[in-house]
Amino acid sequence: MTELTTVVHDASEIVVGPGTDAPLEKHEDAALAVTDGRVAAVGPTEEITDEYPVENATHAINADGQSVIPGFVDSHTHGLFAGDRSDEFAAKLGGENYQDILAEGGGILRTVRAVREASDDDLLANLLPHLDTMLAHGTTTVEIKSGYGLDTKTELRMLDVIQRADEQHPIDVVPTFMGAHAVPKESDAEAYTDRMIGEQLPEVAEQGTAEFCDVFCEEDVFSVEQSRRVLDAGMEHGLTPKVHAEEFVRLGGAQLAAEMGAASADHLLHANEDDRTALAEAGVTPVLLPGTAFSLGADYADARAFLDDGGTVAVATDFNPNCHSQSMGFAIALACVGMGMTPAEALVAGTHGGARALDRAGETGTLREGMPADVAIIDAPSHIHVPYNFGVNTVETVLKGGEPVDGGGR
Ligand code: NIG
Ligand code: FE
Repeated sequence: MTELTTVVHDASEIVVGPGTDAPLEKHEDAALAVTDGRVAAVGPTEEITDEYPVENATHAINADGQSVIPGFVDSHTHGLFAGDRSDEFAAKLGGENYQDILAEGGGILRTVRAVREASDDDLLANLLPHLDTMLAHGTTTVEIKSGYGLDTKTELRMLDVIQRADEQHPIDVVPTFMGAHAVPKESDAEAYTDRMIGEQLPEVAEQGTAEFCDVFCEEDVFSVEQSRRVLDAGMEHGLTPKVHAEEFVRLGGAQLAAEMGAASADHLLHANEDDRTALAEAGVTPVLLPGTAFSLGADYADARAFLDDGGTVAVATDFNPNCHSQSMGFAIALACVGMGMTPAEALVAGTHGGARALDRAGETGTLREGMPADVAIIDAPSHIHVPYNFGVNTVETVLKGGEPVDGGGR
């Protein structure tokens, strides 16, 4: 028998997702009915509550004066880590730069040392509160990368902890293997590439939890050729490619992502028109990470150039020890103010765009009929308040599969 899980009624607006002839498909004075955890109907409150009476619902939510939007899909994070790099944030403000810090054994390599020393339980205990924060800020699906192990044992441990977090937490966690995040101190890029292909990837595939394989294709990290070899091997093991591309210099990662049919190319601060065209033609989702540019004091990616060609982009947090924000609302505010996106474009990028970057378009990221009822209810009358009220969490209630999950839901 169908269960009427939830009815959200009398909302000022309900944003369904990207519109066909408007930036957003939305309804005013609206209600949303959830049966068996999925969206059954969205429309005028009277119509919906006639068909789905509020008194029959397990959860009835009066959203008077509030805006209902799809839960955010944060498609790029390195949210599993140990240690504290706040001092590097302060040092960068004092003029040091990210790549020099990494070259001196700090940055990613410092987090690698901390993660190798941490137990699995400590790693999980670090991650779960971050997921609580994300959920409280409206994120209902998040991608998390390994890549702070850089040896087989620790990479497998990270992927295992990511899976445990997915099982224990209401947020859907999507695991990405990123052995190619940096070159470990004990190796060089070429020898480490061989080891990833010969040793790490077969074991990651055998463990069977990772869905994507990502590489940091960057000057002094992994070359285009090394990146191609890792992603090729990943594909042979059933992992879909993703690429950290053109973050500090334009090296060719975007063209590689296009050539390989990657799910996404991420960062793209230095991508040019050829790169944008190649990505669009290959159907690769550009993932823009304005929080990273903000925290590095760098120029933002050219979001307008991607959007004005009619493309779909994703906006994500890039939550990691270098970009320490779990908030999609803040990323959306930066997307608007820093990258010139409209609130509607940024909202679509943080929901449907994120789903597309995770090969989940049509499965989450909108509130169309049949979709999981992953919902954020904004305590303000329109979605514009998400970026307008920057620096503040505007999300009051989160539904995961139609169930209210306030307070972390654990
Ligand atoms: O996407 N650019 C490479 N990787 C991360 C940073 C990870 C770190 O500094 O710990 C990023 O920004
Ligand atoms: Fe990253």
